Amino acid sequence: MEKITIAIDGYSSTGKSTLAKQLAKALGYVYVDSGAMYRAVTLFALRNGWFGNVEEDIPALIQALPEVELEFRYNDSLGFSEIFLNGENVEKQIRTLEVSGYVSPVSAIPEVRHKLVAIQQKMGENKGVVMDGRDIGTVVFPNAELKLFMTASPEIRAQRRYKELLERGEEVRFEDVLANVRERDYLDSHREISPLKKAEDAVEFDNGDMGLEEQFERIHDYSLRVI
Ligand code: C5P
Repeated sequence: MEKITIAIDGYSSTGKSTLAKQLAKALGYVYVDSGAMYRAVTLFALRNGWFGNVEEDIPALIQALPEVELEFRYNDSLGFSEIFLNGENVEKQIRTLEVSGYVSPVSAIPEVRHKLVAIQQKMGENKGVVMDGRDIGTVVFPNAELKLFMTASPEIRAQRRYKELLERGEEVRFEDVLANVRERDYLDSHREISPLKKAEDAVEFDNGDMGLEEQFERIHDYSLRVI
């Protein structure tokens, strides 16, 4: 069977990565979490203390970008790849509310996008990839054969993220998670470079009242029709 490229975009916490992982597994494709890459660059910046003042610290981050090495390594027992920042597995550290609070301004830096988009395009050059993010169907793979755009209400998405953070042992308040979800929606869709928007040829999918299994089945069936 011919391999295709599957681009999944949408607002934060719409379950893009869960769906992308399930699809990749079912089709025998590689899954790439592009958000993890923006989060890892943000973690790098935070560790260097560059966030007293985002505006002032941007030049320092841009200058240090060549030192940022990102790599995905497949974890057999988990069944998906984890992200490594300069050789260190940072899969857990990049998911905190602190990183979520800074990732949108970092993602709006053109030099950061330029570097990460080039890596993403390389990873997908042989097709057989499911990538999720904000600009996959519009910028990274505008010719992807299958493009999905996921939505759900901010409250439902914040509830999902809140549960996830609590399960990971983070002490967070629901109001703060909801505020972060709303803020990232706004920043991601209003930035100048590659704003989050539905590609014209993407299929919109609201999964607000849908269980994971139903969502997967519907989209898997759909993808088989495209392939
Ligand atoms: O997907 P996730 O919520 O982990 O992404 C974290 C952040 O990374 C987003 O809020 C967005 O600012 C940025 N991002 C992006 N472009 C992508 C993927 C993520 O700007 N393709």
